Amino acid sequence: MILLLGASGYIGQAFAAELRRRRYPFVPLTRMAIDYTQFDILFDYVRKMRPSFIINAAGYTGKPNVDACELARAETLAANALLPQTIARVCLVTNTPWGHVSSGSIYNGAKVLDNGGTRIENDLSRAEIRWLFERHPERFSGFTELDEPNCSFLKPPCSFYSGTVALAEEALRTVRDCYVWRCRIPFSEDDQPRNFLSKIQYYPKVYDSVNSLSHLDDFAQTCLNLWERGAPFGIYNVTNPGAVTTRQVVALIERVLKPGRTFEFWKDDEEFYRHGATAPRSNCILDVSKVQSTGVRIRSVHEALEESLRRWHVGNPVLWPLRRPPQPIRHQHVVR
Ligand SMILES: NC(=O)c1ccc[n+]([C@@H]2O[C@H](COP(=O)([O-])OP(=O)(O)OC[C@H]3O[C@@H](n4cnc5c(N)ncnc54)[C@H](OP(=O)(O)O)[C@@H]3O)[C@@H](O)[C@H]2O)c1
Repeated sequence: MILLLGASGYIGQAFAAELRRRRYPFVPLTRMAIDYTQFDILFDYVRKMRPSFIINAAGYTGKPNVDACELARAETLAANALLPQTIARVCLVTNTPWGHVSSGSIYNGAKVLDNGGTRIENDLSRAEIRWLFERHPERFSGFTELDEPNCSFLKPPCSFYSGTVALAEEALRTVRDCYVWRCRIPFSEDDQPRNFLSKIQYYPKVYDSVNSLSHLDDFAQTCLNLWERGAPFGIYNVTNPGAVTTRQVVALIERVLKPGRTFEFWKDDEEFYRHGATAPRSNCILDVSKVQSTGVRIRSVHEALEESLRRWHVGNPVLWPLRRPPQPIRHQHVVR
């Protein structure tokens, strides 16, 4: 039996659907059923139920977006940094292998070929960098699992969310029998508030940058494929190969969905952070050659985006708080 923590969440539901599809017996655990964030409770449960594998898809990302983590700091720290360490201790004493859903937002930037050498470009939202990427994507490559996170409390600026995700990764680095799967800006064909393709369509203005992305179902499938194939434990960047500018995604939305409207973009970072956001956003490219070297196939980001838009299901507007433009959260303690 597989134990799935955070099964009620956006990513947890994708794991649950994929486990169902594969007909794996699993228990989708929620805090309402048992408070798995408490060591004693989780330890008792795991000792009795003896799962063969645990998936941790629980965490706190903030709603409607990561700015909310700047205010809910205790909850963000507990869910993203402390809970993974509690699970790690339970898994260690019960000898249970497990996988933890992490995030690529602990990086900022990409590696850029320049004058015969490679340099790190930290700011992918700069107009000249977006211009270069759209014309010469082959000159850009991503951070590998061996690269130190550069968007963390140790390497600010970072959002409080990214800082806590990086803390968890640091704690899990030496933990055995553990996968750390890095997801990055999930999207799919289902219109809903957590979907990047929905956010682009319903935010009042779009923020343009360059990013790696993870198709939600591809992400869950790839994580399970790594485990199923017995890939070595450790960290994996699990994004669809390639990267895109948000402007390229908007162009695809216009071409495929024909929404009959124009999209507005934030003029620059100054305007975006003055009116649209509080926490520093991570924009980055991740290298996925480690996943690919295991033989697990994952389609390109362009293919996954196009397919998602071709199969687009419009969501229920009642469930759509983002259709009201979100107000930026203002406070004084952003880690910059
Ligand atoms: N969504 C993204 O954009 C994204 C991108 C990259 C990585 N991730 C990572 O993926 C994980 C899951 O994200 P998600 O988008 O699926 O989040 P979500 O939709 O908010 O679901 C997270 C689930 O975690 C559980 N949880 C446990 N402790 C919690 C706490 N203190 N506060 C809130 N929820 C708590 C909740 O389930 P129960 O209470 O029902 O048990 C909740 O349904 C997180 O670790 C996140 O960092 C997310």
